Amino acid sequence: MNSDVLVVGSANADLVVAVDRRPAGGETVLGGDTVLSPGGKGANTAVAAGRLGADVALLGAVGDDPYGRLLLDSLRAAGVDTGLVRTSDRPTGIAYITVTPDGENSILVSPGANSGLEPADVDAVFDGVEVMVVSLEVPLPTVEHAVARAAEKGVRVLLNLSPAAKLSPETLARLDVLLVNEHEAAWLTGPGAEFRKLLDLGPRAAVVTLGAAGAVVVEKDATTEVASPKVDAVDTTGAGDAFAGALAASLADGADVVSAAKRAVRVAAFSVTRHGAQPSYPTAADLGE
Ligand code: ADP
Ligand code: NA
Repeated sequence: MNSDVLVVGSANADLVVAVDRRPAGGETVLGGDTVLSPGGKGANTAVAAGRLGADVALLGAVGDDPYGRLLLDSLRAAGVDTGLVRTSDRPTGIAYITVTPDGENSILVSPGANSGLEPADVDAVFDGVEVMVVSLEVPLPTVEHAVARAAEKGVRVLLNLSPAAKLSPETLARLDVLLVNEHEAAWLTGPGAEFRKLLDLGPRAAVVTLGAAGAVVVEKDATTEVASPKVDAVDTTGAGDAFAGALAASLADGADVVSAAKRAVRVAAFSVTRHGAQPSYPTAADLGE
């Protein structure tokens, strides 16, 4: 018996350093203390769903090192099944993040163990799964294979197109929900915020996240704006992943896409009021449910 929600995606350690300015080539700049936290789009999504009480597993890979153990601990603390997280002989993926006083991040990702996630790793994992969520920090052939196998097994597929990558038309046509932010939507359809064009790519529904403005759900017969609660944002890291995890948890519970998006904006809005990604994700109790 498998979990209701299967997340296929990355697990990274985030190493965050505050700097006055970024070093140019050949230059050394001293920054603040390193803040280490569990991250990666796949692990973040799984933790967000787990915190909400969903029955969720992550399929991914980490290294046999302290960063890998940190990630496994964070997943398990959120109730995520880690039986499909492989320990690889490559190092755990790491995101090296510098933050300048204007709040801008620049991020260098070393994918490490995540690069070793192969198409064959996603065979034979779909029995009993209601919804698969996949994001793009793992190799594209693995993503496309996972989507094809899940669709074949009748598992609903939510694809978070982050970071943006060119998917085959077959893959896009197999999606139940295509999740993108505004930039990814513009990258797919061209400028002009004509979100309905996303359906021409083939998914049954598209959800576009709009930062503080919430989200838009595009379906065949309707376009629905979903407003966000007004909050004081302190750190938006991982907000999109919180949205993806909450959306998947609600879809697996039988919610329609609009209802799922209404819950997802509440979850993501909560997450931006606290620092970090995974540590900022709410439980159902935090949401007052
Ligand atoms: P990404 O982080 O992937 O670029 P967005 O910026 O659109 O995506 O944020 C994802 C979701 O997080 C939004 O749909 C919204 O629900 C929530 N969110 C992001 N920024 C804010 C904010 N300043 N206030 C409230 N909610 C926010
Ligand atoms: Na946060």
